Amino acid sequence: MTAEGEQSTVRFTVDGETVAVVGAPDRRLVDILREDCGQTGVKRGCDIGRCGACIVLVDGAAVNACLVMAFQAAGTAITTPAGLDRMLVAQVVREALIEEVSFQCGYCAPGFVMSLTALFLRDEAPTTDAILTALEGNICRCTGYHSILRGAESAARKFAAQRNGAAEGQTS
Ligand code: FES
Ligand code: FES
Repeated sequence: MTAEGEQSTVRFTVDGETVAVVGAPDRRLVDILREDCGQTGVKRGCDIGRCGACIVLVDGAAVNACLVMAFQAAGTAITTPAGLDRMLVAQVVREALIEEVSFQCGYCAPGFVMSLTALFLRDEAPTTDAILTALEGNICRCTGYHSILRGAESAARKFAAQRNGAAEGQTS
């Protein structure tokens, strides 16, 4: 619990840039990223940790930004959808999802890309069950999920092809 009107300065990095945020220590990360850092690619949906629209990477793990208070983000490295532009893993995930026409309105897409990027960062060859588990916290109101699963499985095949290509390169 914080005293009313209490202010603090919290420092963390957002897409590689250090930011210092002054405000209530219990202000939510989703609001800080969107309002202070201009990262509107971080979407707001339910505000209670159910939809996954606000997911960002915190030290490489997928986290609901609506459930993180400013003080809990102190000292962490946060990656927003804009920051994924520099991550090869995320680029492969995005490419696969686009090729499979995984989304319709696209509002949920940043959260799904975040969850899948976090998955492929920790498991380069996930099973379908592992993909489904990784996406348990993401809601899509348009697609019925089949197209998203197709995209995720396509990404897994792309990573496997990359590994096979690298292995062949080592033996030739
Ligand atoms: S807005 Fe954070 S999970 Fe829905
Ligand atoms: S594509 Fe519209 S909510 Fe997922």
